[in-house]
Amino acid sequence: MLPAVLLVAVTFTYSIAWVLYWNMAGARTFSALPLNPRRVWKVNKVFFSVVLSNLTLIPIGLSLLKYRYWTVRGSTQVVMNVHYNPERPHNTLDVYVPQDPAQVMDSKSYRLSEKTRNDAKTLRPVIVFIYGGAWSSGSKWMYTLVGARLRSMGYVVVVPDYSIFPQGQIFDMEQDVRRAIQWAYRNCMTFGGDPQRIYIKGHSAGAHLCALTILNDSIQRIPPSLFGSSPTAISTSPILSTLFSRNLQSKNDSDDALPRIRGMILCSGVYEIGEHFKHETMRGVEEISAMARVMGNSESSFRTYSPTCILQELLQVSTRVDRNYPTESQTRHRNMLRHLKSLLPAETLVVHGDLDQTVPMRSSSEFYMELKTLQLGPSAKFRIIQGMGHEEPVVALMPCSARDAPFRQALMDEISQFIDARRA
Ligand SMILES: *[C@@H]1O[C@H](CO)[C@@H](O)[C@H](O)[C@H]1NC(C)=O
Ligand SMILES: *[C@@H]1O[C@H](CO)[C@@H](O)[C@H](O)[C@H]1NC(C)=O
Repeated sequence: MLPAVLLVAVTFTYSIAWVLYWNMAGARTFSALPLNPRRVWKVNKVFFSVVLSNLTLIPIGLSLLKYRYWTVRGSTQVVMNVHYNPERPHNTLDVYVPQDPAQVMDSKSYRLSEKTRNDAKTLRPVIVFIYGGAWSSGSKWMYTLVGARLRSMGYVVVVPDYSIFPQGQIFDMEQDVRRAIQWAYRNCMTFGGDPQRIYIKGHSAGAHLCALTILNDSIQRIPPSLFGSSPTAISTSPILSTLFSRNLQSKNDSDDALPRIRGMILCSGVYEIGEHFKHETMRGVEEISAMARVMGNSESSFRTYSPTCILQELLQVSTRVDRNYPTESQTRHRNMLRHLKSLLPAETLVVHGDLDQTVPMRSSSEFYMELKTLQLGPSAKFRIIQGMGHEEPVVALMPCSARDAPFRQALMDEISQFIDARRA
């Protein structure tokens, strides 16, 4: 009896692990499949915890269906499937348009009347929301209720689909995020949004994409002369050399620059790929996870795509003191920081739950430390939410009649204080 039960259990757990490897790790040969029982056990553990947490999402799924296919059908509250990136027309975005009695929408064209458009006072802050999903899953459809929530708080919300793995690599994702922000900037007034108050909000992998896209764009626009008269300063940093080599090629591409972002809200994010790879390895999921493949599979490319490492190298390069001209070096450093500050979002809010098992809180605290070391601290806030896990920053926002989610109020307060405090 016992051997039979054991045999069934072993077959079952190995089958699950192997199917996951086949589907997610691209394992096509026997030698690529896991044999080590420890790994099989770890993979099963993660798999069943994901299945369990998805089961708790069923009531939210029902609310989602009701909202998307019933409540907003034919209304002007949500404008769906708008093209935003000519290079990849299959990716589209949804826009959530807040209700405002003062606004008169033309229901055919989804445009605000001329009168409302010209009245800047009624314009709302805009949030571009970049969802997570380990760079390999997720869709704007799944985050309909996040859009609905933020819309009900009075914001124009833009939720794009972007090129997830295997359709896209990290630079494709970055480009999609850029295009979505640019689209929001050019078009938000049509929906009552204020192009001077564009915020981007990302969760998990989405927070990584937001931080990376913004840092890349800002650093590329610092004049190289602020790093020192000779190019050797930059050449000591592999990351900055890569960024600037592209910069020099496309110097005239001023059309492509991002607009100034007012603020960035980063929840449960990954900011150092190498560290996160270690964490994935500890959980036994580094082969199933697409992260390493998305980020170029090498230690140096991991660093290139790590916002924390980018900030570290930026600091190292800019604080290098030229012994012959110490005062000039310091002035240059100050000028560089001032310039960077004028390019980065005016404010950043970093949020992380202390019970996050998927992305440890250390990820956010180290990223925030780097912001502070660069003296970007005053414009950056770090909020640790006690007892919160990985998914809550999005799941708790989803309106669902079946329950009143913990952390919902806390998260909404953080967001509205962050965005509206400056207006008051
Ligand atoms: C930075 O952005 C450019 C496009 O502007 C892109 O080609 C490059 O891959 C990005 N690099 C990093 C490190 O994100
Ligand atoms: C950039 O474009 C301007 C005008 O469009 C031109 O005068 C200038 O030479 C260009 N610079 C480079 C580096 O190509």
